[in-house]
Formats: sequence, C-alpha cells, structure tokens
Amino acid sequence: GDVTPPTPVDTLVTDQYAFAFDIDGVLVRGGKPIPQAVEALKVLNGQNEYGVKVPYIFVTNGGGKTEQERCLDLSRQLELEVSAGQFICGHTPMREMAEKYKTVLVVGGEGEKCRAVAEGYGFKDVVTPGDIIKDNKHTTPFRKLTADETEHSRLRNFGESEIDAIFVFADSRDWAGDQQIILDLLMSKNGRLGTRSETFDEGPPIYFSHNDVVWSASHPLTRMGMGALRVSLEALYKSLTGKELVSTAFGKPQIGTFQFATRLLQQWRKDTHGIDAPPRTVYFVGDTPESDIRGTNEFNASSVCENQWYSILVRTGVFEEGTKPAFAPNATVDNVLEAVKFGIQREV
Ligand code: G3P
Ligand code: MG
Repeated sequence: GDVTPPTPVDTLVTDQYAFAFDIDGVLVRGGKPIPQAVEALKVLNGQNEYGVKVPYIFVTNGGGKTEQERCLDLSRQLELEVSAGQFICGHTPMREMAEKYKTVLVVGGEGEKCRAVAEGYGFKDVVTPGDIIKDNKHTTPFRKLTADETEHSRLRNFGESEIDAIFVFADSRDWAGDQQIILDLLMSKNGRLGTRSETFDEGPPIYFSHNDVVWSASHPLTRMGMGALRVSLEALYKSLTGKELVSTAFGKPQIGTFQFATRLLQQWRKDTHGIDAPPRTVYFVGDTPESDIRGTNEFNASSVCENQWYSILVRTGVFEEGTKPAFAPNATVDNVLEAVKFGIQREV
C-alpha cells in the first residue's frame, strides 16, 4: 500500500507540552504586532537557554478572511511562517454546517470576502445583505450600496427564495442595515423576505462566529465586538416580538472550539514534529477572561479533556490591571513573552 514515511522526530522539540495563542490583544493589536510577540515566538522556536523547541497553534475568535489569508497576515506581522495547519478562527467550525443548509445569509467583513469564505467551506448558495438591498433598495432606507457592493452584489428575486439560516461570519460594517435585514428574516415566514410571521417561530436560525462583547484593537480602550451586535439584536427582537431570541455562538469559550483545537494540535505535532501522543500540558495564552480564560478552564475541567490545559492571562489586551477578571486564570503575566518564559520555566 501507499505508506507515507513517518516525519522524523526532531529531538530538540519537546513532546511534553505545547502552547496555544489567542491573537488580538496577545500577539497583535490593531493590525500591528505587540512589542514582545516576535521575540516570544523566537523563544518557542528554540532561542532559549535550554535550546528546546515548543510546538504551538493559534486560536482566534477573529475572522473575515480565509484561514490561508489570515495566516499570511500573521506571518507578516510575526516575521515567521504560520501555516493553516496551526490556525483556527471564529468561523472555522462553521464549515461543518455547509451540508445542513442550502441558502444562507452571510453577514460581516470587508466587501465580498466572507461570501468567498463561505463558498470555500462548501456552502451551496450564499447571499449577502448587499444582494438583498440590490433587489429592493427600500429594505434599508438610510443605507446605500457602496461602489464595491454595487459591483459585486448579485441580482436575485428574493420574493422567490427562502433563506435557511443566518451566519454572522465577521464584524458588521453597518449595524443598522445589517440588523434590519437580520430582523426581517428572523420575523419572517420560513426565511422569505417581505413576509411577517404571526407567531415569530418560523424564522431561520442565526449563528455567530463568536460572542466577544468587546475586543482589543488600536484604541487604548476596548471596542465593541460581535457579541455586542448579538446583545443588540436580542434586545431589538424582544422589543419587536415580545419573545427571546434563540441564537448560537461558536468560537471561544465553547468547549467544541477547544476540542477542535486539541485535534488540530495533535495533527500539527504529528505532521511537523513526528509526535504521536498528546502533550501533558497545553498553555493557553489569552487576554479576554470571558472567552480565553473561561474556555480554557472549563475545557480543562471537562470530561473530554485528556491533558491539562493551563490558562495564562496577559495584560496587553481586554483585561486591564486594577479590575478582577470575571474568570480566574492559572497565572497572570504582563505580556506574551512573559507567558512563554513562564510556561517553559514551569516545565524544566
Ligand atoms: O473580532 C476578534 C476579537 O473579538 C477577538 O479575537 O484573537 O482575541 O480571539 P481574539
Ligand atoms: Mg484576544
């Protein structure tokens, strides 16, 4: 048979432990690397007093581009090669929903990028808010299509099609218009635009790629994230229908995301380092207590976790000194370089 030869084992690579990194607020802030990030990864790649190399993966709630594109950005920012085989973003698990729904509304991100991501995941029929406004400009009284949207939006008669599910892939660039369209669908009969349900229980389901209410961007204070849009939609839905909105969020802190990360890390260690057993400890370095620390701690305590997941909170992002984090980390350090040194030190 066609047996692929095993990857040779690099004796400098430890099989005992590994790192998983959050991105925004840990390695990058507002598109620029956090000062200690480049050195932190050099340390993991062997530039430390023990000469040990430590495998690592990235688990971000962010998105808006294909995994390959995000890895190219990260490679540039961190001055090293990042492979899609060591990367998960908020919408990566949505891939598994592509068979379940035929026509889906994809919301968020720049221009047409998220439509392309969804099609890359295998979704058969992807529509965007731009397509809906192109079909009926009265949908959003105060929003006009941009030149880019006018060019790329696809003409279609929405009176004749039903939308089976709504996926918020990335941050909305126009909350008012996107919320109008999302609410129209949630309140519709079977996802048909222009209809209103009398019972408000026939609309399509809605999925968010994560639930971060705030995140760490260029501004010194935290900025509203996708979780804030979700809170807003829930409030609007309640005031318009009197009912609670039922929705689903992927990403951290969901246990499923950490299980996904475990499988990715296992595959990555096997393919690149020839290691075929789980590490004893995985150090997760994050800045958001509600997503990174909560997820790591709850996954560690769950029955599906086979090794130890150890949460390290940094002070370069959402969490700021002087406040008590809502979920207590195993350790708190100033920045990602300190986190890496802390983990290595704990192992020797
Ligand atoms: O929009 C992205 C943000 O909410 C969080 O990204 O890398 O901190 O998980 P990250
Ligand atoms: Mg973060």
